[in-house]
Amino acid sequence: MSPPEPHENLSPPLAAPVSGAPSMSAPIVTVHSTKLQGATAAALEICDLLDAKPDAVLGLATGGTMVGVYGALVEEVQRRGLDVSRVTTFNLDEYLGLDAGDPRLFRHFMDEHLFVPLGFNDAQVHFPDHVGARPRGADAVDAARQYEEAIQAAGGIDLQLLGIGRNGHIAFNEPGSSPRSRTRVVELHEVTRRDAAETFGGFDETPERAITMGLGTILEARALRVLAFGASKAPVVERLLRGAEDLDIPCTFLRERHGDIAVHLDIEAARLLP
Ligand code: PGA
Repeated sequence: MSPPEPHENLSPPLAAPVSGAPSMSAPIVTVHSTKLQGATAAALEICDLLDAKPDAVLGLATGGTMVGVYGALVEEVQRRGLDVSRVTTFNLDEYLGLDAGDPRLFRHFMDEHLFVPLGFNDAQVHFPDHVGARPRGADAVDAARQYEEAIQAAGGIDLQLLGIGRNGHIAFNEPGSSPRSRTRVVELHEVTRRDAAETFGGFDETPERAITMGLGTILEARALRVLAFGASKAPVVERLLRGAEDLDIPCTFLRERHGDIAVHLDIEAARLLP
């Protein structure tokens, strides 16, 4: 078998058009003095949702950007005494090639920062099947389809949290990803692997593949909440909010294809905006 092309989708996308997107309006952008304030603003909105809809379906993200969000969310859920036993969650993505129980899995991150502190049980939380998804095999297609079906069966995602990669990726939709892409196995971009290398003890030890929700999947969430903090994100934030759609910068597909996007930035991430 020849090696995959960089960023090639290793399992075929499940054919489905982007649909159900609300009518378009400009994203609401808030520039916060600190990243803690930005993270807290997102957490408070999630709490308001859980207050109004105790069986809400949350789309969750991992990464340094989300640590403060989950910290504030745990605090606020406890402060308000919210019952979160009927919440359902779907995470965006997971690395391939790691054993179940590996502390570098995104599942472990979520357990540490959110699921254990809030007492979520296994039936409430969902990840794409990183063990079943074998690149190019039927298993990868099945794992992807099962994830899409599980999201549908839960009634769709009410609110999706999103970070942005320095290369503009959204979840693991790397440069070259179609705005109609669905859950699938992908090859990770070099920038993504470099950014993760410290966690894995070096670039060569960093996973080469992952399974991720597609951009089309993400765009079907009823609300998107995008967070970006720090100067390294300023160039992609500028493209997210002002750039034309560009296959090389996946975040550019969000702005004009969804009607309920709010963006939380800190001053550094906003420094290239007028
Ligand atoms: P970060 O990652 O929060 O660690 O910056 C964001 C992302 O890659 O989506």
